[in-house]
Amino acid sequence: MGRQTVIVLDFGGQYNQLIARRVRECGVYCEVKSCKTPLAELKAAAPIGLIFTGGPNSVYAEGSPQIDPAVFSLGVPILGICYGCQLMAHILGGEVTAAQKDTAREYGKTDTFYDTDCALFHGLPKKGVSWMSHGDYMAQIPPGFVLTARSAGCPTVGIADERRGFYGVQFHPEVNHTESGLQMIRNFLYDVCGATGDWSMGDYKKTAIQAVREKVGDGKVLLALSGGVDSSVAAALVAEAVGSQLTCVFVDHGLMRLHEGDEVEAAFSKWDVNFVRANAKELFLSKLAGVTEPEQKRKIIGEEFIRVFEREAKKIGRVDYLVQGTIYPDVIESGLGDAAVIKSHHNVGGLPDYVDFREIIEPLRLLFKDEVRQLGRELGLPEYLVSRQPFPGPGLAIRVIGDITEEKLEILRLADFIFREEMARAGEDKRLDQYFAVLTNLRSVGVMGDGRTYDYAIALRAVTTADFMTADWAHIPYELLDKVSNRIVNEVPHVNRVLYDITSKPPATVEFE
Ligand code: XMP
Repeated sequence: MGRQTVIVLDFGGQYNQLIARRVRECGVYCEVKSCKTPLAELKAAAPIGLIFTGGPNSVYAEGSPQIDPAVFSLGVPILGICYGCQLMAHILGGEVTAAQKDTAREYGKTDTFYDTDCALFHGLPKKGVSWMSHGDYMAQIPPGFVLTARSAGCPTVGIADERRGFYGVQFHPEVNHTESGLQMIRNFLYDVCGATGDWSMGDYKKTAIQAVREKVGDGKVLLALSGGVDSSVAAALVAEAVGSQLTCVFVDHGLMRLHEGDEVEAAFSKWDVNFVRANAKELFLSKLAGVTEPEQKRKIIGEEFIRVFEREAKKIGRVDYLVQGTIYPDVIESGLGDAAVIKSHHNVGGLPDYVDFREIIEPLRLLFKDEVRQLGRELGLPEYLVSRQPFPGPGLAIRVIGDITEEKLEILRLADFIFREEMARAGEDKRLDQYFAVLTNLRSVGVMGDGRTYDYAIALRAVTTADFMTADWAHIPYELLDKVSNRIVNEVPHVNRVLYDITSKPPATVEFE
């Protein structure tokens, strides 16, 4: 028997991949397909369940995404979420209208009451917070359905026809704000669809490797390796798939953390791939000399990176495919379009059309960060590479405030290393999303031995965040700060002061520049 599959039918909602990710988290293979997918194709995939996503439209509006009503005759259980729920109600004879009363229109966290006799809510508390985002509501539920959840403002939050395996909820069980949301999805998969949990990240690895092999054939593949989690995992995956047809170009711009370049090289030289470390420290430092403006630094680094990469690519000769470690949140962010540019975030891993290649391969495109880490482990990447915190493409250039010199980089590298080492020793590294040192361009007076010093101040930054769009400064223990401060002023020449950043984002940003 083949692997069990659940199909998420996309009606244009924001959280579609998140739904898929939750299904995978429950150990069930999942694919997201357009709501326009022909019924024959759906049938051929023989899914054990279907999930209809949310979407921005009103089901009764002209041109809103619809579905072939015959989908309800396939004998496959269906979970409708938000728009998906309304569409189910609409097609099966219920009535969906714009909520007249403000109360029936719900946004955000909402107290919700569940009928725990319904399979979807089995084993859950009778009351919990759910995340709502709907302006329409079901004025009348379809024949054969019963009400299974309600809120103070809306009597029709959940509906079900358990005989046919149809379930609908107005809220979003896939988002973290919905208490027990994952359990509801698990209930649907295991208790309604009969899932056995036959999928794992190991399977994803096998399928992804096979797909890369088929696509690449005997072509040549190029990858810009930054040493970050995403490009490293993408490299390991493609290496496993096509081995020596892959060349990884690691542009060492001299703005890496202590030992980082060597670590990346060591990790990749054991794979059967061509690994090129382009040492371009002098080039980058000369281009950056005297530059103080953060955006200009980013621009210079991005440009030079591409130039070095191009030169290396030319040496390799004709390349058919380029691999990028794009992950799902990058895909969402690039779709946002009109948002104001706070920082240009020159991700030096993401390169435009610069070499003659046929296609871009993005094997991680549908995965979330923690799934990418899991996949990295499956591929046998060392834990320190897989679990590392994000590191910006422009590297330490945006952590040396003001102009950059080799001496300043050395000071920063050492201070940053001490901070990271102590954080790891204290186990704080697992709790925090990003933490690093910054060399401020503040020099101040200190006293050491019997003498006056006039040296640099190092700032420490540590944050917790869900998505890096907002972040909270981390409350790390005073004793730990004390230890780090002592070590830095004692072990790092030209530092006589250590500061801890207690600003969140907004109004600050994570990086200082
Ligand atoms: P900010 O400073 O914008 O940082 O609050 C949010 C996250 O983005 C990273 N960051 C960058 N990453 N190129 C990158 O690849 C950049 O220019 C850049 N600037 C900031 C930052 O480290 C944090 O994780």
